[in-house]
Amino acid sequence: MDEPLIRTAHLSYHYDADTDRAIPALHDISLAIPRGEYLAIVGRNGSGKSTLARCLNGLLLPTAGDVWVEGANTRDAAALLGIRATVGMVFQNPDNQIISTVVEEEVAFGPENLGVPREALHQRVDDALQSVGLSALRHRDPHTLSAGQKARLAIAGVLAMRPACLVLDESTAMLDPQARHEVLRLLRDLHAGGLTVVAITHFMDEVVAADRVIVLEATDRGGRIALEGTPRDVLAQAETLEALGLALPPAAAIARGLAARGVDAVAGAITPEELVRAIAAHVRAA
Ligand SMILES: Nc1ncnc2c1ncn2[C@@H]1O[C@H](COP(=O)(O)OP(=O)(O)O)[C@@H](O)[C@H]1O
Ligand SMILES: [Mg+2]
Repeated sequence: MDEPLIRTAHLSYHYDADTDRAIPALHDISLAIPRGEYLAIVGRNGSGKSTLARCLNGLLLPTAGDVWVEGANTRDAAALLGIRATVGMVFQNPDNQIISTVVEEEVAFGPENLGVPREALHQRVDDALQSVGLSALRHRDPHTLSAGQKARLAIAGVLAMRPACLVLDESTAMLDPQARHEVLRLLRDLHAGGLTVVAITHFMDEVVAADRVIVLEATDRGGRIALEGTPRDVLAQAETLEALGLALPPAAAIARGLAARGVDAVAGAITPEELVRAIAAHVRAA
């Protein structure tokens, strides 16, 4: 079988691990992320999502267990630079990450630090701006961009490192609906182009775009995997999700409510489109 892009085995993480006030953040997480997957990770605050994200590219090293990226262990100091370029991280607030006054310089910053030579650097910046749809704004000051454009700029900065995988830690959390929509559409396009996407979110309506969903749950020993499956399978477990502090996305919640009132045609709908189609079919049949 092909080596997954990222693999964790019995990954546990404690903050302040070697002190007497260690804080357990992750407990015994084993998962494989195949190349090309769109994985959504959800869970209420404190369930370990950010800690897991930081373990996936070696920003944090496991207290116990292991993480491999393309077969290289994140404990291998010699592999770490390569691992961080392969698994690119996008954080929550793009404003805090802007360091330049020109869009194209902002995008060049990462690969420049990797030591990418000048000619190749231009190409990378061009490609990254093109793939997020910001080529026309390359000479602008990033601070003058809209929220959605800033978020896409942050993604371009990571894409310029030519990663195989993007890990987004609640990158849509601070965005208005329009900007959030722009980012989600971009993620779908990048995924369609072959990029592996790991999207951490607390918006349950974002999980329906994923190939697979992992739900984390906080326990006394740290965050653990509580549920895992396709969006449809995970969203079918409404009561378990509720116990984990997660609400169904609106369309799935309405479908569930209607199905409970005998409108069988809508059972299992998880997107607004599916819900509308099922209601239309129900009305036609009535
Ligand atoms: N820098 C830190 N120092 C100490 N404890 C932390 C730190 N960051 C997170 N934690 C703790 O680790 C646990 C998991 O947190 P986190 O990974 O941030 O979860 P999430 O991203 O799901 O909200 C929580 O109990 C949190 O309080
Ligand atoms: Mg977090």
